[in-house]
Amino acid sequence: MKAPKYVVKKGGKYWPSNAMKKIANMTDKNIYDKAAKNPVKFWEGVAKEGLTWEKEWDKTYVEKLPYFEWFKGGKLNFCVNCVDRHLEHPKRIAMIWVPEPTGEKPIEITYGELYDKVNKFANVLKENGIKKGDVVSIYLPMVPQALIAMLACTRIGAIHSVVFSAFSADALKARIEDGKAKILITADGYYRRGKPEDLLKKAKKAAHKTTIKKIIVVNRIGKRVHGKKFLDFDTELQIAESYCKPETMNSEDTMFILYTSGTTGKPKGILHDTGGYAIQAYQTCKWNFDLHPGDVMWCTADIGWITGHTYAMYGPLLAGATTLVYEGGPDYPNPGRWWKIIQDHEVNVFYTAPTAIRMFMKEDFKWIKKHNLSSLKILGTVGEPIDQKSWMWYFNKIGGERCPVIDTWWQTETGGTLINVLPGIGPFVPTVSGLSFPGIKHVIVNEKGKEVPKGKPGLLAQKSPFAPGMLHGVHNNHKKYVDTYWKKFKTMYDTSDGAYLQNGLIRITGRTDDVMKVAGHRLSTAEVEDAIHDNRKVGDVAVVPMPNKIKGQVPIAFVVLKHGKGSKKLEKKLKKYVDIKIGPTARPARIFFVEDLPKTRSGKIMRRILKALLIDEEPQGLMTLVNPGSVGKIKEIIKANQ
Ligand code: WT7
Repeated sequence: MKAPKYVVKKGGKYWPSNAMKKIANMTDKNIYDKAAKNPVKFWEGVAKEGLTWEKEWDKTYVEKLPYFEWFKGGKLNFCVNCVDRHLEHPKRIAMIWVPEPTGEKPIEITYGELYDKVNKFANVLKENGIKKGDVVSIYLPMVPQALIAMLACTRIGAIHSVVFSAFSADALKARIEDGKAKILITADGYYRRGKPEDLLKKAKKAAHKTTIKKIIVVNRIGKRVHGKKFLDFDTELQIAESYCKPETMNSEDTMFILYTSGTTGKPKGILHDTGGYAIQAYQTCKWNFDLHPGDVMWCTADIGWITGHTYAMYGPLLAGATTLVYEGGPDYPNPGRWWKIIQDHEVNVFYTAPTAIRMFMKEDFKWIKKHNLSSLKILGTVGEPIDQKSWMWYFNKIGGERCPVIDTWWQTETGGTLINVLPGIGPFVPTVSGLSFPGIKHVIVNEKGKEVPKGKPGLLAQKSPFAPGMLHGVHNNHKKYVDTYWKKFKTMYDTSDGAYLQNGLIRITGRTDDVMKVAGHRLSTAEVEDAIHDNRKVGDVAVVPMPNKIKGQVPIAFVVLKHGKGSKKLEKKLKKYVDIKIGPTARPARIFFVEDLPKTRSGKIMRRILKALLIDEEPQGLMTLVNPGSVGKIKEIIKANQ
């Protein structure tokens, strides 16, 4: 059968075709106006319809800035919404898990089986002393046990704190300590590009002398664990009681912490609540990705990031759909792996990052051509701006000119997508994210918070009432919450992104602060600087992002040594410092040893100037420097070392 065409070209733009309009959950373009008239009522309506509540709320929205609450007095359990309520169809597949080794068979877990496992694991947690409100650290690769562990936490009201498995032991330790986690759930390892990677060593090191009492280990690569502190995930599951009563939670109770990088050296623990987050995840899956029960969605993000939480784990389940999770490397054993997975498991919705798209663009088209991708309905991108060429390639080569590309803008802080075009409404315009989701309002403003004329670049801010999925604080750090998001505009949420309107649609230009997006991963320049500073030879250091064809951006470090000269050996050593403190994801692509960094009179490093030098642009504003001479010298060093 010929695959349906979901888009048509009209007036030089792509729009949903009749075939798309026929299946789409949302096709009414008036929904934006309707929702804007009374956003609180809009969210009230979708929350009543979309989620299962134990008790309805007394007040839909209460705002006392900088805090606000959704569905106050409402009671629900998140796990019940993801699992129990789909038990009418116990045989429906909740998760397809694809291991990296091609000799190993994929595993399908039905909603019925997931219910069984989650209940049991919830009991394992309880037996090990975990109560409502306790923090559980999860340091797992992309294995089914990650979903089971996360859901089990939400069943008993424990707060999960997932840490990206490629982060280092030091990074995990800092997150364990900040959250005072009592239990750590990890794996012995995982497969990456054909090799077993050790995870347990890092986990053990991180947990040493912290609040962690027990370490529950998933056996993935066949290592044995010994000792009182360790429990085997699957053994515990087998002996656990089979039913665990779901905890009744307030809508505003914290469901999870997820650490993200800001402009300072220390990551912030972003807090997400239960009800508001749930409705944002559910509604965006239904409308952005047009998920219907039984649809297969594959979001390639790791659970260590918010995209993995909301669209690889929770959103598809809330919608009663199937989520596909792949363990390994995208091009293992060959660059056809991803496309073979789409073919084999008839994936309907595929959601990935521009960095991955750019990587595959370099490969021979034969790797794609030999696979049947006709199951695809919607393509999504996230994490960084997507350029015209990559958008078109994705649309043409992966979507076969049939599927809309939905460019979703959002952040760890927003919990779910906030700006994009809806597939049943359109138009789909390369490089443009689109409109704020119905019931949400963004404005593009100047530094003072005044709206800029239409089409002019400015700062992206969100207006009240704030999206239900928004963070409701920074763990143990009220000041940081206020300073980061509310200081600038007071009554509007500061996204730290730049944007402008293009024919009435929002086009994102990227971060306006010292946050880098490296292969879609969010990293702070200050964190990398801190790691390098730990070496006693380093006197001063500045890290800035440099544009990169595949990764979008890569970190580049400029180091002033206290004495002596830089060398290749020292460069290698300093990179190792970053590996140890954060993880290889943050490792600088280059380290330049310089005599001096451009600084203002007050001692502030002018990273803007370093950025300009890296892209061979004439740096502006040299007059404000105390040491303008440093600039020419740095320029020479970059030239000589390129
Ligand atoms: C930052 C947030 C939330 C999903 C993954 C990233 C950038 C995100 C887009 C997009 C242009 C984007 C922004 C944002 N970003 N999506 N579609 N177009 N830029 O979450 O790690 O918290 O990063 O990613 O700069 O602020 P995150």
